[in-house]
Amino acid sequence: MAYSLLKQLHLTTIAITLILFVLRGIWMMGQSPRLQARWVRIVPHVNDTLLLASGLALAVLIKQYPLVHGWLTAKLLALILYIVLGTVAIKRGKTRGQRIAAWFAALLVFGYIVAVARTHNPLPFVG
Ligand code: HEM
Repeated sequence: MAYSLLKQLHLTTIAITLILFVLRGIWMMGQSPRLQARWVRIVPHVNDTLLLASGLALAVLIKQYPLVHGWLTAKLLALILYIVLGTVAIKRGKTRGQRIAAWFAALLVFGYIVAVARTHNPLPFVG
C-alpha cells in the first residue's frame, strides 16, 4: 500500500520534473520572460524535493540504500549531476551555447537515471 502510493508519487514527480525542464529549456532558448515567472522559479524545487523524498522513502521500504547498493548510489549521484546541469542550463550558463549544451546533457543524464531505475544496474547499457 505505502509502496504503491510512494511509487505513484515518485513516477508523477518524475513526469512533472521532465515536463517542466523541457518547457523551461524551450523558454530559455527563446529567451522568454516566462522563465522569470514566480511559479516557474518555485514549483520545480517543490516537485524535485518530493521526487528525492519519495525515492529515499522507496529505498527504505525495499531496504536498499545509496552508498550500499550500486544502482542507488548511481541514481543519487546522477540526480545531483542532473540538478547541477539543470541550473547551468536554466540559470548559470554564461552563454546561450553553454546553456543549450547543459540542457541536452541534463536530458541524457535523466535518460541514464531512468535506465538505472528500470534495470537496478549502475551500467544499464553495458549489461
Ligand atoms: C531524476 C531522478 C529520478 C528518476 C528519473 C527516477 C526514476 C525511477 C523510475 C522510472 C522508477 C520505476 C522503476 C520500475 O519500476 O521499473 C523508480 C523507482 C525507484 N526509485 Fe527512482 N528515480 C529518480 C530518483 C531517485 C532517487 C534520488 C532515489 C533514491 C536515492 C530513487 C529511488 C528509487 C527506488 C528505491 C525505486 C523503487 C525500485 C523498485 O522497487 O524496484 N529514485 N525511479
